[in-house]
Amino acid sequence: MTITFVGHGYVGLVTACVFADFGNDVWVIGHTDEKLKRLKSGDPIIYEPGLKELLEKNLRAKRLHFTKNYGDAIPDSEIVFIAVGTPPKENGEADLSAVLAVAKEIGENLKNHFTVVSCKSTVPVGTNLKIEKIINGCKTPAAKVAVASCPEFLREGTAIHDTVNADRVVIGSDSAEAIKLLLKTHEPINGQRVITNLASAELIKYTSNAMLATKISFANLISFYCERTGADVESVLNAVGLDKRIGRIFMDPGVGYGGSCFPKDVNALLNTGKSLGIDTAFLEAVENVNAQSRHNFVDKISAHIPEKNIAVWGLSFKPNTDDIRFAPSIYVINNLLKKNFRIAVYDPVAMDNIRKIFGEKICYCNNPYEALTGVAGLAVLTEWNEFKEPDFAKMKKLMKNHYIFDGRNIYFNNIKDNNNFAYFPIGKKPII
Ligand code: UGA
Repeated sequence: MTITFVGHGYVGLVTACVFADFGNDVWVIGHTDEKLKRLKSGDPIIYEPGLKELLEKNLRAKRLHFTKNYGDAIPDSEIVFIAVGTPPKENGEADLSAVLAVAKEIGENLKNHFTVVSCKSTVPVGTNLKIEKIINGCKTPAAKVAVASCPEFLREGTAIHDTVNADRVVIGSDSAEAIKLLLKTHEPINGQRVITNLASAELIKYTSNAMLATKISFANLISFYCERTGADVESVLNAVGLDKRIGRIFMDPGVGYGGSCFPKDVNALLNTGKSLGIDTAFLEAVENVNAQSRHNFVDKISAHIPEKNIAVWGLSFKPNTDDIRFAPSIYVINNLLKKNFRIAVYDPVAMDNIRKIFGEKICYCNNPYEALTGVAGLAVLTEWNEFKEPDFAKMKKLMKNHYIFDGRNIYFNNIKDNNNFAYFPIGKKPII
């Protein structure tokens, strides 16, 4: 089958490589010459485990092609996936300008055979109808087209695995022919099939992300209670999670959720709700707790650290990605800078991205230990594996004072053996 992806970010490029690996002939459309050149040479641009190897393999097999011209790809494609960004506007609404511009380009390049245009970008309810209208307004009368919503549920850091081992494949469309073709394309992918209409498919994606964000905010809210009462957040959540109706998974408290999805999608769902006249207090509370998690962490540091001099380990919004969009690190660093802290940072892959934001305001280190030299404390913001079993004796020697603020609770079990640190976890009694 010939398939086109418009967009080569975490969703577009990963899914394109996976579908090429299944044996399809896959085109990827981008709009920046420099990026397309890098992609053609086997450089995925983004950091995602296993992606470079999959890209190189499918380029070598000539199953993957990159182009700027819609005319190279669209006329021969049976399915066209839209996978461009929907970043938040200042008012929180999803910015659909890229999606709608792409729809027009696709419409203008469709040929006479039947084509399915399917949106993998996360778009508010009703967007696929707009896409359909734009395409029908500019295609030639002979071109037959059906629109379908096929939301993506992959997580950054495990994107390839998640794509192949999906829990569910959701296809929303009014066209039986489009559903049949999409089912065929997704055949090698695991997971239950959910066939529904356009609006439901669009809402399934937002509901999933808002529910996951709610679980995290709920865990963070309970951690605030624990810190003020002497209760232990892990004991509480482990016991609560044993109730199968609740489950323990995806309820780890910390410095709040970040990334390009939860902050953006909760906000977009909130905005859609407002425009529909729905009371959105529930979703506002989810956002407020998330913001509070970051405030509390900065307040905790300010209240306890003896000198305004700190190392930060972990800058990406989660491990195994270089993505720093809405990362807790940005909020924490910004607020520590406002309080005149000197900050030394280290992250295995996100240093270049964070440098673009903070420039010369902070110090960038080549390894985690270099960041500790002479500091009063360490703040851990991302639970990268390489931070989990550090050399505490070495840390002790390098740091001037020995304060650890653990935003991900990764040291609680081994810090007891190294109890010369003043240790501040989330939702648990500090060890001082
Ligand atoms: C999320 C969803 O998990 C995917 O299913 C979805 O496809 C994706 O958004 C998307 O809409 O494209 P992602 O943002 O890549 O995936 O990462 P997650 O693993 O969900 O983590 C999001 C944030 O929540 C991270 O900052 C993470 O540290 C935080 N988190 C996660 C917690 O604070 N506690 C947890 O228990 C789990």
